[in-house]
Amino acid sequence: MTNSQSFATRLFGLTILISTLSGFISATPATTDKKIIYYHSTINNTDTPVSLLPLINGTSDQVVTNIIIGQMHLNTTGLSLNDDLISSPKFDRLWPEVAQLQQKNIKVSAMLLDKYNVLKGNQTVFDEHYAFLHDALKAHNFDGFDIDDEDPTALPIQGIERLIDRLRQDFGPDFLISMSPVASALAGGSNLSGFNYTTLEQQRGKDIAWYNAQFYGGWGDASTPDGYDAIVNNGFSPDRVVMGLLTNPSNAGSGFVDLNTTKATLQTLTSKYPQFAGVAGWEYFNSLPGGTQAPWQWSEFFAQALGVNTGSQSSKRSTRAVAFKA
Ligand SMILES: *[C@@H]1O[C@H](CO)[C@@H](O)[C@H](O)[C@H]1NC(C)=O
Ligand SMILES: *[C@@H]1O[C@H](CO)[C@@H](O)[C@H](O)[C@H]1NC(C)=O
Ligand SMILES: *[C@@H]1O[C@H](CO)[C@@H](O)[C@H](O)[C@H]1NC(C)=O
Ligand SMILES: *[C@@H]1O[C@H](CO)[C@@H](O)[C@H](O)[C@H]1NC(C)=O
Ligand SMILES: *[C@@H]1O[C@H](CO)[C@@H](O)[C@H](O)[C@H]1NC(C)=O
Ligand SMILES: *[C@@H]1O[C@H](CO)[C@@H](O)[C@H](O)[C@H]1NC(C)=O
Ligand SMILES: *[C@@H]1O[C@H](CO)[C@@H](O)[C@H](O)[C@H]1NC(C)=O
Repeated sequence: MTNSQSFATRLFGLTILISTLSGFISATPATTDKKIIYYHSTINNTDTPVSLLPLINGTSDQVVTNIIIGQMHLNTTGLSLNDDLISSPKFDRLWPEVAQLQQKNIKVSAMLLDKYNVLKGNQTVFDEHYAFLHDALKAHNFDGFDIDDEDPTALPIQGIERLIDRLRQDFGPDFLISMSPVASALAGGSNLSGFNYTTLEQQRGKDIAWYNAQFYGGWGDASTPDGYDAIVNNGFSPDRVVMGLLTNPSNAGSGFVDLNTTKATLQTLTSKYPQFAGVAGWEYFNSLPGGTQAPWQWSEFFAQALGVNTGSQSSKRSTRAVAFKA
């Protein structure tokens, strides 16, 4: 890809949802507010379709709360998913899977990794280009939208706020608007979006469900708790900030941290901040430790690392339920 791929190399964890996992065990329902999120970008691994269904088919513990589909890109003629228009028949296998996940209460968002520059300009221009986004979100019944703005020059904060306001107006109070800034941007350090996230949180925090902070690519480091602490010290509540991670060292962006080291970081953070929001993995198809043969194992590993009580396999299968709140 062109621009998008260079963005992708800086991409971070993506992700999403305000969710509450609850009631895995009928007698003593475990409750957790942790989000466990996969970004799903590689729809086909070369010629083989990548299925999300193992996340709900009993192979997995069904600990995933959110899937974020993308990267999508918006231009003056339409919305694309990776290299193809979102309406392409190439995605015919994806949409029924999305519906099945939603039936299991997994919330599914769309992620636009973009310069957001075609949303710049007067209201007529905005409306014309936003319509592509709106129509696709409706057509595929998305539960949310993840804003990954990776161009510091394209859209000022007012432009992002116009988009947030419009999504809220069009999709209602339960629609999950999340953002995926680089981790350092939430700590008051370097950024890729060009605006001040503290200001955005003050002005639109009530409409932003949570942040998927990218702890990789040189903009964050999951091998220690320090970067996350810096975000909290900069004023963001831990229940609003999900830690975005690479799921495999070969994925776009440097900064993969081995799973056990990341687990140690998470254990420190969850004991310090019981309301710690969770993790988001970029991306699903080759997630370790299972890799392409068993990408769902990543979510099981991190559920355990976060202390999410998944109960025994059998109790989960019979009684598990996942409830979300926005
Ligand atoms: C779940 O999905 C995996 C991977 O596609 C497959 O190997 C397994 O047979 C499926 N299990 C069930 C119960 O459908
Ligand atoms: C917009 O994106 C679509 C899908 O990637 C592409 O086919 C089209 O040529 C692009 N249009 C412009 C004006 O760049
Ligand atoms: C994925 O592979 C399937 C089966 O080969 C094909 O029908 C579909 O068009 C491919 N989708 C994408 C997004 O390349
Ligand atoms: C909006 O901006 C476009 C592109 O710059 C311009 O062609 C159009 O006249 C403007 N419309 C209004 C109502 O100002
Ligand atoms: C961001 O905004 C906050 C709150 O207004 C302010 O304290 C901080 O200095 C700003 N950061 C930058 C880099 O401008
Ligand atoms: C964001 O980064 C740009 C450099 O790309 C810098 O000029 C700007 O001050 C930064 N903004 C904030 C709010 O940190
Ligand atoms: C994590 O450490 C345990 C105990 O040393 C080891 O058995 C396991 O293979 C490691 N997991 C990964 C994913 O590296």
